[in-house]
Amino acid sequence: MPGANESESRLLLKLIKERHAIRDYDTKRMVSDELLYQIIEAGGYAPSAENQQPWRLIIVRDRAKQRRIGEIAVDRTIELFGRITPRQELERRLDYVQAIPSRERTIDWLITGRRFEYIKGEPETDGAPILLVLAVESTHVGNSQPTLRGTGGVYGWSSYRHAVIAGSMLMENMMLAATALGLGSCVSSVQLDHFDDVREISELLGIPHPHWVPILCLAIGYAKYPRTRGPPRQTPEEITFVDKWGANWQPKRD
Ligand SMILES: Cc1cc2nc3c(=O)[nH]c(=O)nc-3n(C[C@H](O)[C@H](O)[C@H](O)COP(=O)(O)O)c2cc1C
Repeated sequence: MPGANESESRLLLKLIKERHAIRDYDTKRMVSDELLYQIIEAGGYAPSAENQQPWRLIIVRDRAKQRRIGEIAVDRTIELFGRITPRQELERRLDYVQAIPSRERTIDWLITGRRFEYIKGEPETDGAPILLVLAVESTHVGNSQPTLRGTGGVYGWSSYRHAVIAGSMLMENMMLAATALGLGSCVSSVQLDHFDDVREISELLGIPHPHWVPILCLAIGYAKYPRTRGPPRQTPEEITFVDKWGANWQPKRD
C-alpha cells in the first residue's frame, strides 16, 4: 500500500487536529460545485460493510426547505438546552472556556437556540451556504443476500447499525476534505434526534422513510472567522486501556 511521505503525513495529522466545527460563515463566498464534488467524492471513499455504500446525500438548495430544517434545529435546541438541561450542567460542560463572558455567551446561545441558527443559511446570521442531508439505508445488513434484508442481519443487530457507522465515516471524510480545500463545516444531528423531526424532514425532502433514514446534516462554507482550536480532547492515555477496562495505557514515548 502506498504510504504518505513525511510532510504529507504531518499535513494530514495537522488537518485532522485543526478541523473544528464552523458555525459562522462568510455568506458572500459561495462554494463551487467543483469543490462540492470533490468533498462528496472523498466521502464516498469511506469504508462500509461489504462495500454496500448504504448512503445518499441531498443538497438542500431550496432556501425555504433549509430554513425549515434550521428552525427545527433551533426549536429543539431551545427545548433541550433552554428547558431540559439544568444551567449548572451547561456550566459544567463548558468549564473549559476560561473567560467567563465567553462562557456566558455560549450558554446564552444554547438556551436561546442562537448557536444553531447557522443551519437556516440566512446571510443576516452568517448562515451556512450549503446544507447536505445524509440518509442511510435502514435495512442495510452488511450482507448481500436479499433474503436477509430487514431481518437484523446475520448476527442479529448488524443492519441499521452498520449503515449508521458507515454514514458517520462518510461524514468525517467529507469534513476532512472540506478542511483540506480551505472550507469550514459542521456536522449536526439536533434536528434529526426526534422521531417527529425525522418524519417531517423526510417528507420535506421526499426521502422514502422508513427505508431510508436521514441521520445527520453537514453545513459547508467559507468560515467567517478562522478557527484552528476547539473544545479540548481527552488524551490517548485517558481513552485507552490495556487488556482490561480501567487499566490505562502508559505508552513508551521518546
Ligand atoms: C453525532 C454528532 C452530532 C452533532 N450534532 C450537532 C448539532 O446538532 N449542532 C451543531 O452545531 N454541532 C453538532 N455536532 C458538532 C459537535 O458539537 C462538535 O463536533 C464537538 O463539540 C467537537 O467540536 P469540534 O468539532 O469543533 O472540534 C455534532 C457532532 C456529532 C459527531
